[in-house]
Amino acid sequence: MARFDGARALVTGGASGIGLATARQLAAEGARVALLDQDGAGAAAAADELRGVALVADVRDAAGVEAAFAAAARQLGGLDRVFLNAGVGQVAPLAAYEPADVERLVAVNLLGVYHGLRAALPHLREAGGAIVANASCSGIQPTRGEAPYSAAKAGVIALAQSAALEYGPKIRVNCVSPGMIRTPMSELLFRVPELMEPFDAAVPAGRAGTAEEVADVVCFLLSDAARYVTGHNLMVDGGLTLVGGGIDAVLRRVLAMRESRRA
Ligand SMILES: NC(=O)c1ccc[n+]([C@@H]2O[C@H](COP(=O)([O-])OP(=O)(O)OC[C@H]3O[C@@H](n4cnc5c(N)ncnc54)[C@H](O)[C@@H]3O)[C@@H](O)[C@H]2O)c1
Repeated sequence: MARFDGARALVTGGASGIGLATARQLAAEGARVALLDQDGAGAAAAADELRGVALVADVRDAAGVEAAFAAAARQLGGLDRVFLNAGVGQVAPLAAYEPADVERLVAVNLLGVYHGLRAALPHLREAGGAIVANASCSGIQPTRGEAPYSAAKAGVIALAQSAALEYGPKIRVNCVSPGMIRTPMSELLFRVPELMEPFDAAVPAGRAGTAEEVADVVCFLLSDAARYVTGHNLMVDGGLTLVGGGIDAVLRRVLAMRESRRA
């Protein structure tokens, strides 16, 4: 028997990247999957591939999200696994952001997860189930240039943990916090070797992650193997958040000097 046989799953941002990789894994392991995305063509292509249900909605639109979750529950015969993953990024100095861009980053990344939780919970309440929200390592270790994104992702972790407190024991709610993952969102960075080579040298895993590597962890949290895990924020970052920019860089050089003196 496959891990998700009989499961009915919904993935937001399911047309691309981490969402699509997770939907593929859920479907490969027996779940029926609904893919919600603002990219209608992408959601339709993914639904075709996975014999799933495509839902076109903007996660900023509370009523649209509620209607899409209801349609998914109708078509799948209920819902018991949800991955709230849709998100967008942007990089600029804090004071250079246009207020409209800050509002968009907070609305998609934070309110989008809130609208998803609010739409999902009534469907999961009776039979129970599991929800995972996609936060980011920037939510616990804020990064330069991503102030609104980091703040929104910190909010995602708090939202998910509040939901875990309020809706247990029937519903488990966890987060993943990916580090640097190669997807369409981050692709531009990978085209500039001068940006990514120092990253690879610094991160304990020695490289960026893949969407499938995040999907593996999301599927663990959505599965019964994680039945005693709730309110957790699981870093999927290859050790990135262990690497402190300042002291760690100094001590790294001290260790290298020590090694070279020994040689
Ligand atoms: N790629 C990384 O390095 C990384 C790191 C940490 C966290 N994350 C988070 O992972 C999640 C997925 O990112 P990804 O890297 O797979 O990016 P991606 O751009 O490949 O996929 C994001 C998907 O979300 C959809 N989407 C965006 N805004 C939407 C909206 N308003 N309504 C509905 N759908 C919307 C897009 O159409 C797209 O299909 C995001 O929440 C992102 O913040 C990514």
